[in-house]
This record gives sequence, structure tokens and C-alpha cells, in this order.
Amino acid sequence: MLKPPPDRLYGRQRSHALRPRQEKLLAETLPRLRFAAPADPASAFATPPAEIWLEVGFGGGEHARTLAETHPHVGLIAAEVFEQGLCSLLSALVPDGAEATALLPGNLRLWDDDARTLLRELPEQSLSRLYLMFPDPWPKARHAKRRFVHPDLVGLVASRLKPGAEWRAASDDPTYQAWVTDVMGAQTLFEAPPPATERPPGWPPTRYEAKAHRAGRTPLYWVFTRR
Ligand SMILES: C[S@@+](CC[C@H](N)C(=O)[O-])C[C@H]1O[C@@H](n2cnc3c(N)ncnc32)[C@H](O)[C@@H]1O
Repeated sequence: MLKPPPDRLYGRQRSHALRPRQEKLLAETLPRLRFAAPADPASAFATPPAEIWLEVGFGGGEHARTLAETHPHVGLIAAEVFEQGLCSLLSALVPDGAEATALLPGNLRLWDDDARTLLRELPEQSLSRLYLMFPDPWPKARHAKRRFVHPDLVGLVASRLKPGAEWRAASDDPTYQAWVTDVMGAQTLFEAPPPATERPPGWPPTRYEAKAHRAGRTPLYWVFTRR
């Protein structure tokens, strides 16, 4: 019997002490980009976006930055709990010394907490797309409850997506791949065709994907469509 995921698994996380530049990015830049309007998400962006997308666990942020740059009509909320990841994205956006003043993208906002908390706070049918790129695999069975793809979370994700919206996901971990197949094969809220074994055209690459290829693993790429 699977345990339901706990309400709050992650707060911000840090692997080692931050450098002064990283401290400045978190203190001065992050507050200027922080997504703080879950009840009325469109109001968080410089101009009301045509669509709102969410990326869960953006890691170093290359994928999120590319999405925001190439889809200016979209408001992208990018969620990450790991401070070094937040800093990596922020450092690519602002030059050293301009943490408090540099112009920031109007269509990108950051959520520096558990993405599941955000999902609970967003209105129903507020998202047009959700990205879950190379989520932490939690390969041990006793940690299965920590996986983002989880029977107890599918309903929440579905409720925040508009009909026809896509949930795009990728994983290189064989345990997680089999798990996704099982979980998504057992639900009815999304169309869940078999995954692709090559990154579909138009999907930006990610750092973990490159790591997976270097290690000889084959990622799978899913597109689940909200019914
Ligand atoms: C394996 S990394 C992949 C990073 C990136 N997507 C890539 O492909 O390079 C997974 C990331 O998801 C973040 N993460 C895990 N669970 C999360 C959650 N519930 N909310 C926000 N971020 C989360 C972790 O901190 C980690 O940086």
C-alpha cells in the first residue's frame, strides 16, 4: 500500500555554503523575480501572458531560460528548491554587481519552494503546460512516496491544467521510467501514449539529460495530454 506524499517535503535546500555573489543573488535578485501571486497567477507577470506554464525542478535553469526566451507570450513559473540551482539561473540573468538593478525577464517568475505546495495554491485550470524534466528518481521502493509522478498527485496536476494542456516529462532512470509507465497507465485523466526515446523537436536540452547520455543511459520523453 503506497503512503500518500506528505504535504510538504522540501523547503529550500543547500549543499554547501554560498559564495558572496550567490548570497547577493538570493537576497537582491530572487525577491524581484519571486512568484507571489498563486491566487491570480497572470497578475505576477509584467504583461498578462497568453498562457501560463510551470517547470518543476529546473536544476541549473538552462531549460527554463530557453523556454522563457523562446516563448515571450508565455508566463513561465519555474520552481526549484535547491539554492545552488536558483543561483545558477539567477547568475545567468544578471551581471555581477547588478543584482538589485538589472532588468529581468517579464515573463519568468521563480518559485523557491516545493512545487507541490504551489500546485495546491494555484487555481484550477490555470496552467497550459507543465514540465517535469529528469525528476529526482528516488529509486528505493521505500522512497516512492517522494516521486513527483505519484498516484496521489496525478489528480492535483490534472486539476491545475486546462483541458488539452500538456504535461511533458523525461527521465533516464529505469526504475522511474517503469514507475511512470505504471502510474500513468493506471489513470484516466490524461491521455498517456508511449514515450519517445529521442528528445522531441523543440524541447530544450537539460543538464541532467546530458549527464544521462554521458553515462550511457537512454532517457524517455513523455507527453501526457489532459483530457
Ligand atoms: C535531477 S534534478 C534535474 C534538474 C533539471 N530539470 C535537469 O534536467 O537538468 C531534479 C531537480 O528537481 C528539484 N526538485 C525536486 N523536487 C522538487 C519539488 N517538489 N519542487 C521543486 N523542485 C524540486 C531538485 O532540487 C533538483 O534540482
